[in-house]
Amino acid sequence: MALPGLHLYSFFIIISFAIIPYYHCLQGDTLNEYLQEEGDEEFGYDFRAYPSYFNSIIEDGQFKDFIKLRSTNILNLKVFDDQVGSISTSVKKFIVDDFKAEANGTDDTEAFQKAWEEACSSEAGALVVPESRYRLKPLRFSGPCKSNLTVVQIFGTIEASDDRSDYDEDERHWLVFDRVQNLLVEGDGTIDGNGNIWWQNSCKVHKELPCKEAPTALTFYKCQNLVVDNLKIQNAQQMHVSFQSSSDVLVSNLMVTSPEDSPNTDGIHVTHSQNIQIINSFIGTGDDCISIVSGSQNVQAMDISCGPGHGISIGSLGSGNSEAHVSGVTIDGAKLTGTTNGVRIKTWQGGSGYASNIIFQNIEMHNVSNPIIIDQYYCDHKSCKEKRSAVQVKNVVYKNIKGTSASEVAIKFDCSKTYPCQGILLEDVILEREAGNQTAKALCNNVNLAELGVVSPHCP
Ligand SMILES: *[C@@H]1O[C@H](CO)[C@@H](O)[C@H](O)[C@H]1NC(C)=O
Ligand SMILES: *[C@@H]1O[C@H](CO)[C@@H](O)[C@H](O)[C@H]1NC(C)=O
Ligand SMILES: *[C@@H]1O[C@H](CO)[C@@H](O)[C@H](O)[C@H]1NC(C)=O
Ligand SMILES: *[C@@H]1O[C@H](CO)[C@@H](O)[C@H](O)[C@H]1NC(C)=O
Repeated sequence: MALPGLHLYSFFIIISFAIIPYYHCLQGDTLNEYLQEEGDEEFGYDFRAYPSYFNSIIEDGQFKDFIKLRSTNILNLKVFDDQVGSISTSVKKFIVDDFKAEANGTDDTEAFQKAWEEACSSEAGALVVPESRYRLKPLRFSGPCKSNLTVVQIFGTIEASDDRSDYDEDERHWLVFDRVQNLLVEGDGTIDGNGNIWWQNSCKVHKELPCKEAPTALTFYKCQNLVVDNLKIQNAQQMHVSFQSSSDVLVSNLMVTSPEDSPNTDGIHVTHSQNIQIINSFIGTGDDCISIVSGSQNVQAMDISCGPGHGISIGSLGSGNSEAHVSGVTIDGAKLTGTTNGVRIKTWQGGSGYASNIIFQNIEMHNVSNPIIIDQYYCDHKSCKEKRSAVQVKNVVYKNIKGTSASEVAIKFDCSKTYPCQGILLEDVILEREAGNQTAKALCNNVNLAELGVVSPHCP
């Protein structure tokens, strides 16, 4: 059976649009123009616009690498483009109902497993989930697939089993796409982690309970050339979506939601992954909207609405004295509402490595408790020992960030004594108190800072 051509065409259009506005927005933007040009010409930057600050960071090898990365195409999705024309009529559909999925509240795992195996081993296959409500135990959609393009179309709702004993074998994952290349997951449907039972049993909710892992609802592990588009992902047991050791990923039009008091329910988590673009998505959960942790490079998020939750976070990095590396992160276009943090970098004492070449720009804050924060003394239990080593934070640009802070301290740079933050630039950053007529403050420890345009509040 052939897929209607429409879906693949719309898929193609999604990819083209995803790339074009990115370059379009670069054109109107002096800072980015500068960054981009710098990749092509060694000394082509505008000294007048960004005098001494950039003199110093240009000499920094890593910043140059970042610039180079940014001027090449972020996504290597050519594989899809080439095939869209040629195979649109030959993608075979495998509908879970044809594999005896009941969609009546009983377990449909076996039907999904069989439909996946067929889709994955055909020339070009689509697993199709019709508009009904299905129930699944933990399930691994394993690759590599024989197909050059594997499609998963979710029109209905996939709900997780809430019998915790179903997760005995692997309590960290519910649905996993494992080593699949050239994968498209789409369809306007819903993935529901049914997380209530896990939240009730969390040690963060009931302090007397032992702390245990809970499953991530949807994990992409070692996937490459991946598009995840137009899905609702809700009520995850713990994290909602995790990209782990994956590369060349486009994430668009996601609606990620769970209650504000659900514990550890990060929206989108990126770990050890490269070339990830997240666009036009709404995330409101009980933890970070987006969290980017070690091993991640070249991650962009654009047009993100976030809240409730803990905001957009790089880290935590360096826990347990570990070495962490994150570089080339751009958050461009975000609206945060009522979150506990806005844009945050958090590292533990005793770690090593770096978080560098990070741009936060065009961001609106509404009643955010810590709108701008670098916290190098992060500690999520009672107290952490002060240590000499730390993850180095450097080359971070905050540009055009406006709005209100729920707390007095709107800007907080609490950097390591032994590894002060280097090359931090604030440009056109204006943050005010949400309530009352007190003024907002900046708290700045061990930070090497430059300012351009209008910046308020200032470091004392
Ligand atoms: C679901 O459908 C199967 C097969 O038709 C049937 O055996 C089972 O009793 C049904 N379960 C419920 C809860 O209706
Ligand atoms: C899949 O890729 C292989 C190798 O690149 C190619 O020979 C084959 O024709 C492709 N199949 C389809 C259905 O496009
Ligand atoms: C702002 O946030 C604070 C603390 O989170 C909350 O108490 C207050 O009601 C919020 N104000 C508005 C106008 O939402
Ligand atoms: C604002 O400040 C004025 C004068 O400094 C004071 O009279 C007034 O009570 C303050 N209002 C609030 C809501 O704090």
